[in-house]
Amino acid sequence: MEVSVFENQETASLYVAQRIANRVLMNNSINEKTVLGLATGSTPIPMYEKLIELHRMGVSFKNTITYNLDEYYPIKHSSDQSYHSFMKEHFFDHVDIQLDNTFIPNGEIEETEVSTFCKDYEWSIRKNGGIDIQILGLGLNGHIGFNEPGSDKDSVTRKVELSDITRSAATKHFGDKKLVPKSAITMGIETILEAQEIIVMAWGKGKSKIVKECIEGAISKEVPGSLLQKHNNVKVVLDPEAASELNNDRISLVEAKLSKT
Ligand code: F6R
Repeated sequence: MEVSVFENQETASLYVAQRIANRVLMNNSINEKTVLGLATGSTPIPMYEKLIELHRMGVSFKNTITYNLDEYYPIKHSSDQSYHSFMKEHFFDHVDIQLDNTFIPNGEIEETEVSTFCKDYEWSIRKNGGIDIQILGLGLNGHIGFNEPGSDKDSVTRKVELSDITRSAATKHFGDKKLVPKSAITMGIETILEAQEIIVMAWGKGKSKIVKECIEGAISKEVPGSLLQKHNNVKVVLDPEAASELNNDRISLVEAKLSKT
C-alpha cells in the first residue's frame, strides 16, 4: 500500500480529486467512459468540493459512470440521511454528470427483491468494464463500504446488518440511534478489490489507530480495511493526525496544487 501524508485534509483531498480528474480527462480525450466507485460520509466531502471546482475549470463528467459503495436499508431516496440525498447535495447536483449513469444501492426495494438487485448491481459494474478508481473512507472499526468486521474477502454486493459502533457513529445524522436503520446494502470486499485502483482517505486523530491496523496490522477479516493489503494498487491518503501512529519511515509530506491537467 502506498501511503501519502499531506499537510491537511484540504491538500490531501485536492490530490485525490486531481487524480480522478486526470483519469476522467484522459478518458474523455479518447472518448472512453470513466467508471468511479464512490463513497459517502464526512471523509470525501472536501474531495467532492475539489471535484466541483475542477468541473468549473472545465473537467466534464458527461462520460463518467459512478457506483456508490452502499446505502442504508430500508431508507427512502428522499430522506435527508440517504446516500442518494448525500450524493446529490455534495456532487451530482453541481456537475454535468448524467443521472442515468449514477448507481447507488436501492434502499427502497422490497426485501424479496434485494437479492436480485444485488446480483444486477454486480453485473452492471462488470458490463461497464469494472471500476477504474474506487474511493474509500474507513469506519472506526475498519469497515470499508458497510463491510463490517467478519466480512468475507470474497463477499459481493449484499444486504448486511450494521454493527453497533457503526449505528452509534451514524446517530449524529439521524438524531436518535433508534432511527438509524439496522441494515444496509453494500458492495462486497471482492467487489471493491476488483477495482483497478483504490484510494483510501482518512482524517483526524480518531482514525489513527484503525489506519495503523489496516496498513501495518495482520491481514484479517476482523479488520476489513486490512484486506486491502491484498490489492496491488492501493493509495492511502492521510492527514498528519490520521498518520500519527504509523511507523515514522512511512511519513513523507506531499504537496498538492489545483490545476486542470
Ligand atoms: C460510506 C462508507 C463508509 C464510510 C466510513 C467512514 O459510503 O462506505 O465505509 O466511508 O464509515 O465514514 P466517515 O467518512 O463519516 O468517517
